[in-house]
Amino acid sequence: MKIAIIGGGPAGLYAAILLRKQRPQAEITVYERNRADDTFGFGVVFSDATLDNFEKCDPPSYRRITQEFAYWDDIAVHFRGAVHRVGGNGFCGCSRRKLLLILQERARELGVALRFETEIDDESRFADADLIVLADGINSRFREKHIAHFEPEVDVRSNVFAWMGSTRPLDAFTFIFQETEWGPFIAHAYQYEAGRSTWIFETDPATFKRAGLEGLNEKQSADRMAEIFGWFLKGHPLLTNRSMWRNFPMIRSKRWVKDKMVLLGDAKATAHFSIGSGTKLAMEDAIALAEAMEQAPTVDAALQKYEEGRREEVEKTQHAADVSLVWFEHVDRFWEFDPVQFAFGVMTRSKAITYDNLTLRAPDFVAEVDKAFARQVRAKGFDVDVEKPLAPMFQPMRLREMEIANRAVVSPMCMYSAREGVPTDFHLVHYGSRAIGGAGLIFTEMTCVGRDARITPGCTGLWNDEQESAWRRIVDFVHANSAAKICLQLGHAGRKGATKLMWDGMDRPLEEGGWDIVSASPIPYFPDSKMPREMDRAAMDAVKAAFVQATERGERCGFDMLELHCAHGYLLASFISPLTNQRTDEYGGSLENRLRFPLEVFEAMRSAWPTHKPMSVRISATDWAEGGITGDDAVTIARAFAEAGVDLVDVSTGQTVRDAQPVYGRMFQTPFSDQVRNEARVATMCVGNITTADQVNTILAAGRADLVALGRPHLVDPAFTLKAAAWYGAEGVFCPPQYLPGKEQIFRNSVRDRQDLEDLKIKAKPKTRAELKAEASKPLAAE
Ligand SMILES: Cc1cc2nc3c(=O)[nH]c(=O)nc-3n(C[C@H](O)[C@H](O)[C@H](O)COP(=O)(O)OP(=O)(O)OC[C@H]3O[C@@H](n4cnc5c(N)ncnc54)[C@H](O)[C@@H]3O)c2cc1C
Ligand SMILES: Cc1cc2nc3c(=O)[nH]c(=O)nc-3n(C[C@H](O)[C@H](O)[C@H](O)COP(=O)(O)O)c2cc1C
Repeated sequence: MKIAIIGGGPAGLYAAILLRKQRPQAEITVYERNRADDTFGFGVVFSDATLDNFEKCDPPSYRRITQEFAYWDDIAVHFRGAVHRVGGNGFCGCSRRKLLLILQERARELGVALRFETEIDDESRFADADLIVLADGINSRFREKHIAHFEPEVDVRSNVFAWMGSTRPLDAFTFIFQETEWGPFIAHAYQYEAGRSTWIFETDPATFKRAGLEGLNEKQSADRMAEIFGWFLKGHPLLTNRSMWRNFPMIRSKRWVKDKMVLLGDAKATAHFSIGSGTKLAMEDAIALAEAMEQAPTVDAALQKYEEGRREEVEKTQHAADVSLVWFEHVDRFWEFDPVQFAFGVMTRSKAITYDNLTLRAPDFVAEVDKAFARQVRAKGFDVDVEKPLAPMFQPMRLREMEIANRAVVSPMCMYSAREGVPTDFHLVHYGSRAIGGAGLIFTEMTCVGRDARITPGCTGLWNDEQESAWRRIVDFVHANSAAKICLQLGHAGRKGATKLMWDGMDRPLEEGGWDIVSASPIPYFPDSKMPREMDRAAMDAVKAAFVQATERGERCGFDMLELHCAHGYLLASFISPLTNQRTDEYGGSLENRLRFPLEVFEAMRSAWPTHKPMSVRISATDWAEGGITGDDAVTIARAFAEAGVDLVDVSTGQTVRDAQPVYGRMFQTPFSDQVRNEARVATMCVGNITTADQVNTILAAGRADLVALGRPHLVDPAFTLKAAAWYGAEGVFCPPQYLPGKEQIFRNSVRDRQDLEDLKIKAKPKTRAELKAEASKPLAAE
């Protein structure tokens, strides 16, 4: 077999090693345009888990690599004069040059031919090869040459960065967030061998310009960075090696294989340096390719297997990298944060590390985070314990005069079980049991302001006396039997009205018994949905009056809070999104115009709703669709509602148009809450695939939302909050007297279960290489 590998970086060399080990008879040649020891950059970083992989695949290169490594366990975050260190991370650094020399040596040893100073510009010279590996890096010529086939998507990020080095020793992966007169600069730094550390500097384009970095040469820009970070460098120089300022391109390719050619490493996909995974991905690609070549009967089948088997893992890493880079791009959002909360945000930015996870590894750090959170709550006038604070989830909050005992919320969820809009005993039990279950705040399902405002025939309403008294019964029960507050969500279905019950076909039009529907513009939801009528001013006035009447009824029911539903493609959302609003009057066109009617309705409701009671608005912070609402629009929307008197923005997303492309995942909507909260400076509630109390605490402690709503988890577990309270030892959580023996038991058992789980996790956790190295270097104790 003949294999040609274009590119002698980590991907190409490691692929050559593994393939040659597998097929000692194969003729494998690596073509590299540079000289053998001619490499840019300084260090690379691997996690312990990646090293474990290397150990399995090729022990000789693994041993040589690890001999050269610098290990560390801690991440240190420097921000506004404070340093926070978190242990247990298990990383190691190595010089990129040494890594490549080791891989070259090992490849040679195995009989791979290495052709340096050989630039390949056409694959036709390898017509007789069975496999051509395209490992030609981030600017891959071959990916570009076959662009129509590979279909790469290149997202050039806004921040600029430069990769430098220093002789400054470091004993932790170090993030420095530096305020300057021009704006924030960030250093990502780690040691990779004795006396050598990598320094990646990052800043936003405006700060870059203001700092006069544009047009400076390498030496001049290194001098400027040395001035900024001089206090930390302590006289150590900054070193350069093609350390040009650049923008990071996030690359994704639709296809990785063309005939017998296959993309590997940065050529096919990149991962942002803030999660340090570029070299890891490149070498793990090589592992995946070698495994596929071993298992599949033909090269074609192997390439298919490689792409199919590897894509998900790469996309997961890229997603984590995306989330991380966005955090760094928007670091100014958190600049006013308490340093410990800021450090918590850095640690938890890409979702892999959570509150509980950190509690295990760095209990003192989390205790400090809790204290800072409690101090903020105390500053709002609550008499909470700051010395031994409860976890953030169990800290109280106030909106106007409404106090909520904890931050867990039952998200609004239609039950499709009303009769002519009247909530039934099902609703009493449903809301009642969730209130007893300990959540601080319960939202009703979308309750419709008129018969024709309903989504389905099973939706609740609040347009007549019978409905009013049925709701009053529920509210009274909640108030009499729990500590929960209850918020009424009012809405109008718009073009998604007259549809079937969820279990009969979500959003599908009713076959019989439907009613006339209205929307901002006459665009049906599905092509075969009913055509909505475009609202004229009279219809708008009628709808506004219906919202006001329902508001007045809501007040008579005794609801503590009121939410206006402007999300998920319903009537008011249909005005806000350009995808559903094509009006040419003053209610269409600009975002300001599109917001006009929803704001009018909100203001009318606000006037009818008692001043001391809070109001929220639920928005879709993105339509997940080309040309639709974006996170930036959501900030403008939130600001507009805040000016109109909203106390909380309930940040949801999507459901505007059928062909949306949502990116699901754990806590997938939380970044939008984060953006709205920390850019519009308004309190937010986040929601969406948040399933554990650990996630709730992670979100709150990082300042990404003020309240956390859970929908589906509450459907199957009314006592979600009570159970979480037992886990975190929040004794004060409400429990009705009838259930106290259960509460006592779960609190008692939770202490033990938690201890057992922690012991198990500690025992199961393999020692990091830094720990092993420290142990090995300890003098033997005298017998
Ligand atoms: C600022 C910065 C910091 C980084 N920090 C880290 C980090 O801390 N940890 C980490 O793991 N990764 C890091 N990376 C990423 C890492 O450098 C790459 O992800 C990794 O090197 C990818 O390996 P590769 O083999 O795919 O590509 P490369 O290492 O780029 O190798 C491609 C090779 O192909 C050669 N080549 C290109 N075209 C041709 C041609 N036509 N003919 C012959 N040869 C050709 C090039 O000369 C090059 O040697 C960082 C990257 C940057 C930019
Ligand atoms: C059965 C069901 C009904 C829902 N009804 C409503 C509703 O009436 N109003 C609303 O704003 N959101 C509604 N939602 C959306 C939820 O409030 C929540 O935003 C969504 O389920 C994501 O949260 P989760 O992942 O915790 O379930 C509903 C969701 C479900 C599953």
